[in-house]
Amino acid sequence: MDTQLLDPEKDKSVYEKAASLLKSGEVVAIPTETVYGLAANALSGEAVEKIFAAKGRPQDNPLIVHIADLKQMKELARYVPESAKKLADAFWPGPLTIILPKADCIPVQVSAGLDTVGIRFPSHKVAQKLIKTAGLPLAAPSANLSGRPSTTTSNHVMQDLKGKIPAVLEGGACQVGVESTVISLVGEKPRLLRPGGISLEQLIEVLGDVEVDRAITEKIDDDVRVSAPGMKYRHYAPKAPVTVVCGNPDKTFEYIKLNAGEKAGVLCFKEYVKMFPKCECREMGSVNDLKEQAKRIFDALRAFDETEVCEIWAQCPSDKGLGLAIANRLKKAAGFHIIELD
Ligand code: TXA
Ligand code: MG
Repeated sequence: MDTQLLDPEKDKSVYEKAASLLKSGEVVAIPTETVYGLAANALSGEAVEKIFAAKGRPQDNPLIVHIADLKQMKELARYVPESAKKLADAFWPGPLTIILPKADCIPVQVSAGLDTVGIRFPSHKVAQKLIKTAGLPLAAPSANLSGRPSTTTSNHVMQDLKGKIPAVLEGGACQVGVESTVISLVGEKPRLLRPGGISLEQLIEVLGDVEVDRAITEKIDDDVRVSAPGMKYRHYAPKAPVTVVCGNPDKTFEYIKLNAGEKAGVLCFKEYVKMFPKCECREMGSVNDLKEQAKRIFDALRAFDETEVCEIWAQCPSDKGLGLAIANRLKKAAGFHIIELD
């Protein structure tokens, strides 16, 4: 299959083209502010099956449904609690996915058999315009091969999916860089299932109490049922094994310097790049610049696959703010192979 790159900056008619692919039951990769998504008509089980096929995604992992109008939330959810309205008010459009009881129109392929649905209103203008042009809610997981780091440029999408999907809609580099925060509102208390572009602290400010799922910080065994099925898979992984080192940046630097072997790759804060002259270094932004780190992390993880490194060491940011999401992605890339120094 030929994969077309459709660039709305060059030709506005690409929205119609992508929309007609979606309406005819095809998949299209689309930009969002978090990562690129692989989209299909969320109301068609048959269309959604093509997403799973192109990604090689496990069938038990549900998909997020993307909307471009608040009214669509009511059509997709069986009911909308007050807390969902508050969150939508505070953070939509933006990098937050809200899990609600699903309406009957959601096919089983989207919910992967659960009776809930994740809904998100992305802020990326290209995504919004496409959803409106198609007139459909779009189911979309991240547009990477299952298990690989998520994609934050159309180039990344081509690396993974060229030849497997008909089109990629260009939208530039993603401005957030890590996926949306996933919060469930179906239990007694709001529950954070995946940290992402909206921080836990921001959620607490709006909702008061928020429980944190333990799959965020711990490895979950294969036979355990988890709230967000996606959290149990090894994920975001470059080809070489990753070790994440947590603690004070000066200490994590010393530790990596001492332990990194020949042909090691190092993912480190900007301040330390020059201090690893013998390693294949990828910089993820300054120690205190979490926004920059989030923006760079997937590109940096992917970049190691173009080198000969046979091990990768990563300095881990603290769990504050966006750091919780960045640390979670690194720990998952490492299969929770973590060294704690503090
Ligand atoms: O930023 C994002 O969320 C991106 C862009 C494209 O919107 N999408 C994304 O989708 O990251 P995906 O499929 O790669 O990750 C979705 C996560 C998975 O861990 C999945 O298990 C969880 O959300 N999830 C989706 N629907 C769920 C549901 N109904 N209940 C619990 N977890 C759900
Ligand atoms: Mg994903």
